[in-house]
Amino acid sequence: MTSNFIRSGLSLLLAATAFQALAQDFPNRAMTMVMPYAAGGPGDTITRVFAGAMQKHLGQQIVVDNTAGASGSIGTAKVARAKPDGYTLLMIHVSHATNQAMYKSLPYHPVDDFEPVGRATSGPMVIVTRNDFPAKNLSEFVAYLKANGSKVSLAHAGVGSASHLCGLMMMNALNVKLNEIPYKGTGPALTDLMGGQVDILCDQTSGTVPSVKTGKIKAYAAAGKARLPQLPEVPAITDAGVEGFDINISFGLYAPKGTPKPVLAQLTAALQKSVGDAEVRQRLEAMGISAVSQEQASPEALRAHLKNEIDTLGGLLIKAGVKAN
Ligand code: MLT
Repeated sequence: MTSNFIRSGLSLLLAATAFQALAQDFPNRAMTMVMPYAAGGPGDTITRVFAGAMQKHLGQQIVVDNTAGASGSIGTAKVARAKPDGYTLLMIHVSHATNQAMYKSLPYHPVDDFEPVGRATSGPMVIVTRNDFPAKNLSEFVAYLKANGSKVSLAHAGVGSASHLCGLMMMNALNVKLNEIPYKGTGPALTDLMGGQVDILCDQTSGTVPSVKTGKIKAYAAAGKARLPQLPEVPAITDAGVEGFDINISFGLYAPKGTPKPVLAQLTAALQKSVGDAEVRQRLEAMGISAVSQEQASPEALRAHLKNEIDTLGGLLIKAGVKAN
């Protein structure tokens, strides 16, 4: 009895020491931040802002890995399977909630297979089109969609993505059915929009404000109740009497389940410093995005935010009869 007791006590002590050593030594090499959408999109832009800021605070390089496809679920599964040592992170938004409702068999569970590190940003969306779209203003835009329906193509980043949700809300609010064209991210979708291969995209401002300002695409409405400070001349969709349509997209940072608590605490501390960085806040603000408060950049706030999105948006998609596979 005594020797077993001593043996199990020793093994516990050894595990705790190894655990402590991992945390004290963390990070001692480059890290990876997976962005599960294509390079050049709004999510990629936000991820690179935080990878740049957090690597300064952690003292190790953070490489952004765009593992895209299947509405972000391929990149997300990659992080769920990664070693829980703090060196592989996931930056993701609403699709972490909606994919669970969209896919019958996801290779991960959005809550059980991840440790929340903290929330990073929140931001609005804007309805944009190719720059020769035949409507002079928002009311002509609405009339054109109602008159042409599925002859009009709507780009998005896959079922349950932010751009898909926004497109769905727009189609529901206007009672129209457009021809949906899915992409691996709205970066490639924007390229086709500028080339005139696709007509409309509802995207986050971090992917669209620069192109609207340079006239490469046209913005018809902010996808909500309020105009965007960065695009003051663009009306809110509610200005055209369109109700029931107000979307805001929030990104959060996750680590694989089982990542040691002291390591998670260091990651959260680096995220909280980053959301407080003046340079981070200015860069995001120029794109119409807000960094969250340091209090919101916490595991508890991200856990609560994800639960709310799973409970609300997942239901909305199921009610709309949307399924991915
Ligand atoms: C989306 O949900 O539409 C994605 O965030 C687009 C992207 O980041 O490429």
